[in-house]
Amino acid sequence: MNNQNCRVSGKPLEKILDFGLQPLGNGFVPANKSIKEYFYEMQIGFCPESRLLQLINQPEPERMFHDQYAFFSSTSKRMAQHFKDFAESALKLVHVNATDPFVIELGCNDGILLRHFSDRKVRHLGIEPSENVAKEANKIGVDTISQFFSAKLADQIVDLHGQADLFIAANVMCHIPDILDVAFGIQKLLKPNGVAQFEDPYLGDVLEKTSYDQIYDEHVFLFSCLSVEHLFEQVGLELVDAEHQSTHGGSMRYTLAHKGKYPKSNRVINLIAREISNGLGEAKTYHSFAKNVQNSRDQLIGMISNLKKQGMSVAGYAATSKSTTILNFCKIGPEDLDFISDTTPIKIGTLSPGMHIPVKSHDFFKEKKPDVALLFAWNHVEEIMGKELDFTKNGGKWLTHVPKVKLL
Ligand code: TMP
Repeated sequence: MNNQNCRVSGKPLEKILDFGLQPLGNGFVPANKSIKEYFYEMQIGFCPESRLLQLINQPEPERMFHDQYAFFSSTSKRMAQHFKDFAESALKLVHVNATDPFVIELGCNDGILLRHFSDRKVRHLGIEPSENVAKEANKIGVDTISQFFSAKLADQIVDLHGQADLFIAANVMCHIPDILDVAFGIQKLLKPNGVAQFEDPYLGDVLEKTSYDQIYDEHVFLFSCLSVEHLFEQVGLELVDAEHQSTHGGSMRYTLAHKGKYPKSNRVINLIAREISNGLGEAKTYHSFAKNVQNSRDQLIGMISNLKKQGMSVAGYAATSKSTTILNFCKIGPEDLDFISDTTPIKIGTLSPGMHIPVKSHDFFKEKKPDVALLFAWNHVEEIMGKELDFTKNGGKWLTHVPKVKLL
């Protein structure tokens, strides 16, 4: 889907950066079958009115979220703990207002967050378009429907179950191109004193760390407080709080409510002031980000080529969807990286999207002991350093590209 205009304001987008042809971030290729791989032109644009940084073209949602979706949230222990904490703080919030709260989660994946509500017998409903992961959620007792969310579906949910006290979403809203319809749906779902909380990778962190790998087919938007505030104003909801999170390399949790219902926190007022002074509302900031991205690419290519010249073996660590952007933008292939280690069973034995680097098990990584591991899951750095002490002790080196390209 090609959008030369902003998906919220309808105004023409200012083009920021062209990443060239990219495959799907999660489009792992079966090693022994010949399939025609899908590629699209990945470019980002900025709208000075809505202040939204967004993909200009995005593949149709059915290509990305289907019954072979390769991302299972529960693969990271740290994320599991994060979602437990999120559930607990959200539960406190709704119990203030409701005795028998009803909680809706958009994009509940395998139930990693909503399970904390279902375990406590809280009325809940998960909405998850990818059937395979929705099945996993239902298996652990999380009531889940497998559909794409829309304002129309919100009406049907209200008819069947009534309005919600809490609407939550984690790493989902930034995936949805028709975001105005979703915002409208949330407004319909929320009780008059209900709250919506969602978190997504934060644009402020992406700019600060040049973490351009947050840009791939599934992330149609990179949000800031400024753009979230503007978006929800269109449907009568107000941004009343925002809290920075360390997950996914820097995220923001936004809290929304019906306009005028709750006061705005000092925290969100300060965050918005900081975004304005850091230029998040101005196109020129994104043009300098584009230059930083090109420099980061040149440095990573140079670093890998130097390591290879010294005769070192280099492997990727974690076949993240983010790595697809790095590999295809930098044109890093199997002649550069011998393999990528990953713990997700459905990815093991496949080839990485576009560049076709073999994805191997973690046992394979331990057996091969490459000289250098390129840390694609840089957002899980503490967890990984903790469990890879042997690799590091035995002289294994880590290469990262965030916030700067360097050997750790
Ligand atoms: P994410 O950054 O999008 O959460 O990517 C998670 C991917 O990284 C998933 O394919 C599993 C993989 N992974 C590992 O292989 N080893 C690890 O220690 C961690 C934390 C993730």
